[in-house]
Amino acid sequence: MTPPRGGTERNPERRTDGPIVAKFAQLLGTPLLPWQRLVADVAGEIDPDTGTYFYDTVILSTPRQCGKSTLVDAVDTRNTQWGPDRFIYYLAQTGKDAGDHFKKYLKTVQASPLSAITTRPYLGAGDLRQPFANGSVIMPKSVTKVAGHGVQGDKITLDEAFSLSEETGNTILDGFMPTMATRLKATGVQPQLWITSTEGTAESTFFNRRLDACRAGEQSRRTCWFDFGIPSDADPEDLDTIMRYHPAAGLLWDRSQLADFREQFQGNPAGWARAFGNRRDEGITDRAIDEATWAATVTAPIGPADLDDRPVVFGVAVDVDSTHTSISAGICNQDGTITTQLLKILDGTGYAPTEIARLCATYHAPVVIDDRGTAADLSDRLHHMTDPDGDPLIPFVDMDSADYLTTGQSYVSGLTNRAIWHAADPDLDASAANSARKWAGDAWRVSRRGSTGLTSPLESCMLAAWGAAHRPEESGPLQIF
Ligand SMILES: Nc1ncnc2c1ncn2[C@@H]1O[C@H](COP(=O)(O)OP(=O)(O)OP(=O)(O)O)[C@@H](O)[C@H]1O
Ligand SMILES: [Mg+2]
Repeated sequence: MTPPRGGTERNPERRTDGPIVAKFAQLLGTPLLPWQRLVADVAGEIDPDTGTYFYDTVILSTPRQCGKSTLVDAVDTRNTQWGPDRFIYYLAQTGKDAGDHFKKYLKTVQASPLSAITTRPYLGAGDLRQPFANGSVIMPKSVTKVAGHGVQGDKITLDEAFSLSEETGNTILDGFMPTMATRLKATGVQPQLWITSTEGTAESTFFNRRLDACRAGEQSRRTCWFDFGIPSDADPEDLDTIMRYHPAAGLLWDRSQLADFREQFQGNPAGWARAFGNRRDEGITDRAIDEATWAATVTAPIGPADLDDRPVVFGVAVDVDSTHTSISAGICNQDGTITTQLLKILDGTGYAPTEIARLCATYHAPVVIDDRGTAADLSDRLHHMTDPDGDPLIPFVDMDSADYLTTGQSYVSGLTNRAIWHAADPDLDASAANSARKWAGDAWRVSRRGSTGLTSPLESCMLAAWGAAHRPEESGPLQIF
């Protein structure tokens, strides 16, 4: 079986209800896959002291399209048969998500031999449910509908839990958890809460907290959990890795389809890693430059020998706490477009003046730098550098603070209009991926504190592009003296 990334192992000393779930799955036409069987066996372990479920909570994380929801259906169907008048809820993000899935389930049950133990399903708008002959019922609901009221039930599943905030998720649990003890007393069967999902993003606060607690070994002893996906150090672009860790690989689809699946995520590597590797998308939620635009505007780096007589401007930016200084070139192409190219990421700011002076002299090019913010001190030092005659050493493209606030937006519109390109560079890619926006009214700039990596590489390109577009005429094409 696919090796899980982590989770609860089967305790062979306890009996399990798993084989009965497997029977129901078979009758529904979806015999359990090996990973589904593991989950059914562990979640179905019976506490020898009480004769009912050992676990009250089941946390399940897998890649997309593994069969999570299908497993829930089989477990829910089995759950209706523990006794009369049981209430089973299937909750998803919206009523539509829950309803769409449930309608498929209704068709499946009604076409199966199990239709004999059901009664006529309700198909009313907002009142979908499948009653069973013993009075039990399975109901799909939207999270938002339920959140206000609270549910009393014998089993509740929060499917697609990545979509819940901590607050919304907790509101539902606040309604359900206190009723578990009373239902156990009334029915003799331990109610179960299932939380199932593919990994989400940093905003998936409800699911992340619970999954992280399990990974840290801090879950309650009545919680079992299952985590399938690629290990944290694995490369999601390696299709053999996906085959090895995706629990439905070779069962619901095979290797020959995988390249096509990857195609569907073009320009969205994080989406791919999440869907097929079950890797959390830790990317910032408000990227300064969206991934698709960035991927579409890459160009080949330009070596000094290929520069011909194209004018150059250097953009210089400094990271928060002066940890790094980035220098980029803005190159004015013959066709009127601008190519931005990251040249250096220096540690600190100490070596920057010498390097900038050398570049300016070599390429007869001016510098753009913000004279406030994180670069203020470096800017001041550059402005005071003089040649042996006491003349200013470094030429500048003047930029006031109002101009500075437009550099990010004009860079992005330049990329969007294909008037600006960026030379391929992994450090620059990382900076673009990690740089968030900070809004002030209708304008934004790169948020240094809100970003998750170096912002200076991207900021230096933004400045270089602005400088290249606002180059003083007299500094025009490169002069050979
Ligand atoms: N045991 C099974 N046998 C046959 N087909 C299955 C089985 N389990 C799931 N499937 C099929 O695989 C597909 C994906 O299943 P399902 O929707 O349950 O996955 P999921 O993990 O909930 O996906 P998503 O993350 O997209 O919600 C469905 O078409 C389903 O019918
Ligand atoms: Mg699903």
